[in-house]
Amino acid sequence: MRLRITPAEIIVAALIFAEADGLITYLSMQGNLERVLFDEPAINRRLDELAGQISNDYRHRELTVIAVLNGSLIFMADLLRRIQLPLKLDCLSVVSYHGKAQTSGEVIFKQVTLPDVVDRHTLILDDILDSGRTLAAIREKLETAKPRSIRVCVLLSKKKQRARDVVADYVGFEIEDEFVVGYGLDFMERYRNLPYIGVLRKELIAQPG
Ligand code: IMP
Ligand code: MG
Repeated sequence: MRLRITPAEIIVAALIFAEADGLITYLSMQGNLERVLFDEPAINRRLDELAGQISNDYRHRELTVIAVLNGSLIFMADLLRRIQLPLKLDCLSVVSYHGKAQTSGEVIFKQVTLPDVVDRHTLILDDILDSGRTLAAIREKLETAKPRSIRVCVLLSKKKQRARDVVADYVGFEIEDEFVVGYGLDFMERYRNLPYIGVLRKELIAQPG
């Protein structure tokens, strides 16, 4: 019979106790993914292309970028540093998911005042286009502030029937209708700090009803 406990066994035991205690570890975050869809090099390559396209399309113009928090934060930081144009940056935040994996259907703006986009070429940045409700509501709201032009850029777009008809002018990647996390995208506010994008294991997403 073997009596010695190895360091690896101690770590595994500590992780099991931590999980039992309701603590999520970085290792378990990674383990909760079914598969990785886009790793860091793939994301970086696509950001180079997107930024090149945007810089070219808006050549000799000045942009106002409106980033939708919190999901677009990491995408925004990495994309904007690749765009070679003068630009202004503002942020908006909305509540549409209430922490779960399914939309509530209602989009609530957290800010009382809108960013100043009057007569500006405006580019809305968001993490993902799913039902389309969030971006449709944001676009409609910003249009009331009379921008010179308005376009939408998303990191991800799900191939699905949308509740609202929204066209994204710039799309990082088209994906299947699966729940993804990482690189800014969350599930109940976690996983945003994973440097890649992956599909969350289905059994972790408890659908209401
Ligand atoms: P929509 O209004 O249904 O298009 O949803 C937009 C928002 O829902 C996004 O900005 C995300 O915050 C969230 N969302 C939709 N699908 C996913 C997903 O697969 N992973 C993480 N967040 C998602
Ligand atoms: Mg979210």
